[in-house]
Amino acid sequence: MESQDEHEGDFSEIKGQHTVRRAIEVTVAGGHNILLIGPPGSGKSMMAIRIPTIMPEPTLDEFLEILSVHSVAGNTLKGPVNRFQRPYRSPHHTISDVGLLGGGSIPGPGEVSLAHNGVLFLDELPEFKRSALEVLRQPLEDGDITISRSAGKITLPCRFMLVAAMNQTPCGYIGEDCTDKPAQIQRYRSEISGPLLDRIDLHVEAPAVSIEELRNAKPGEDSKTIRERIAAARQIQRERFNGERTSSNSRMSQKHIREFCQLDQAMGDTLQQAMEQLKLSARAYDRILKVARTIADISEEKDIGMNHLLEAIQYRSLDRDIGY
Ligand SMILES: Nc1ncnc2c1ncn2[C@@H]1O[C@H](COP(=O)(O)OP(=O)(O)OP(=O)(O)O)[C@@H](O)[C@H]1O
Ligand SMILES: [Mg+2]
Repeated sequence: MESQDEHEGDFSEIKGQHTVRRAIEVTVAGGHNILLIGPPGSGKSMMAIRIPTIMPEPTLDEFLEILSVHSVAGNTLKGPVNRFQRPYRSPHHTISDVGLLGGGSIPGPGEVSLAHNGVLFLDELPEFKRSALEVLRQPLEDGDITISRSAGKITLPCRFMLVAAMNQTPCGYIGEDCTDKPAQIQRYRSEISGPLLDRIDLHVEAPAVSIEELRNAKPGEDSKTIRERIAAARQIQRERFNGERTSSNSRMSQKHIREFCQLDQAMGDTLQQAMEQLKLSARAYDRILKVARTIADISEEKDIGMNHLLEAIQYRSLDRDIGY
């Protein structure tokens, strides 16, 4: 049996970056989306490419869905599908809108569908064409995409986890070290639209790792241990949504949110205050609740607690700093 352990790299090789590691675990556990922001060389790409080592294997139903999408593409064209591995797609930023979404003169699935039930990793997010990022919004929200073919239209699933990475500024540095002019920074950030960022559940900063930390830090927790916790949290979600189309917290409906994300008075007040302070949208409100649900599931807690909620809010606190 092939397993994830045969993948190259392991999370134990990552030094420091506790917040980012934790945020990635929450993302994969609940099927959420994440944006990693930080200076060059802080390990963003290094962590993102190790995500396959912590993704639990797909269920049989999930695998059959993956297989059916990939068979539209022709397995030979896109490589064989592994029964025990979720898809992990990392298209280059020069990709066309059609390559990303699907369709074209010889119509086939795009990267969003090939990443179904797995991860779509967009490294150096602001380098992608603005149009490509704009068109990502609909599939991110709906979880499926309709593409036109000469024989008619087909709808393909695309319930992927978006993982994106970027620097804070074009030169990569902030504060005194930054060599960019304010207008350059403004242009760089405006490349990624607010509505796209609003659909990303967790925004985390990957700070520069000091040389001392690189030299001295003990090896981090290994991928197998993280993957087992994620698998347990996924099992809780499967039981919660048994028999429904939803299989992860990130895809909860309003009805689910009312049922599974109840807050007491103090938590409700805390969330309201955070929303006002951080000027968050109604969409961000729901996303915080979904992320809090996943954090509670990782702790195997039946109800969302204040600590789960505060952690979920913390993952949105960069919204204001990025300035959109
Ligand atoms: N937290 C870390 N632990 C161990 N090694 C690290 C860490 N961060 C960076 N490195 C080392 O630095 C190299 C560069 O890291 P990486 O490419 O992931 O940076 P990045 O954040 O993606 O930078 P950029 O913004 O330039 O793309 C890694 O290959 C690794 O050798
Ligand atoms: Mg990188």
